[in-house]
Amino acid sequence: MDLESVRREYLQGGLQREDLLDEPIEQFNLWMSQALQMELKDPTAMTVATVSGEGQPSQRIVLLKRMEADAFVFFTNYRSRKAREIEVNHHVSLHFPWHDIERQVKVCGVAEKISTADSLRYFLSRPRESQLAAWASAQSEAITSRSFLLNQFESLKQKYAQGEIPLPDFWGGYRVIPHEIEFWQGGKHRLHDRFHYRRQGDGSWEIRRLSP
Ligand SMILES: Cc1cc2nc3c(=O)[nH]c(=O)nc-3n(C[C@H](O)[C@H](O)[C@H](O)COP(=O)(O)O)c2cc1C
Repeated sequence: MDLESVRREYLQGGLQREDLLDEPIEQFNLWMSQALQMELKDPTAMTVATVSGEGQPSQRIVLLKRMEADAFVFFTNYRSRKAREIEVNHHVSLHFPWHDIERQVKVCGVAEKISTADSLRYFLSRPRESQLAAWASAQSEAITSRSFLLNQFESLKQKYAQGEIPLPDFWGGYRVIPHEIEFWQGGKHRLHDRFHYRRQGDGSWEIRRLSP
């Protein structure tokens, strides 16, 4: 397997300081709307990195479900590994790998739970099967077999055959409030463009170009 020769040039376009909006969330929203327009596969999929109490990082993909004026929102199980790690260390990093448009966005920030009312609002908008799956899965726990999971799902399906499925108390959203956001655009000969926003004490954002 020859991995060394797997390479390509990034030629889709450069990024200049004057292209950037002052607020990084607005810049992110612009790039997200372009990613949606370009019909990228899973444009809202982002890697969330958390760090355990022992300093061990771990990562997984989740879906960005909402942008707030100052935060990125995703939903998960509040007893999962990621949630347990956020409990002891609320510093997280998000990463959007938009290969097809030769862009990536990296976010560093802190995660906090959203309100139960907000989680409920989103939970109720999900397909019924996804609601049941949230109940059925003790996310990140070891299980004996797939049939164990399917049996859980089936018995919950019967239990909640009628009416609204309640929000599990172990499921909901996190908002990630950024203090750093980097926008990366691939460039010719590996001379990529990188702009890094860092939140200042007064709430404004410093923008610096970084070496690729
Ligand atoms: C494309 C994609 C989207 C996913 N979206 C979510 C999500 O929104 N929430 C979630 O909890 N897990 C999602 N997952 C599963 C996670 O990657 C992960 O396996 C799960 O959250 C357990 O992670 P943990 O054990 O590190 O907490 C997604 C996986 C993929 C590949």
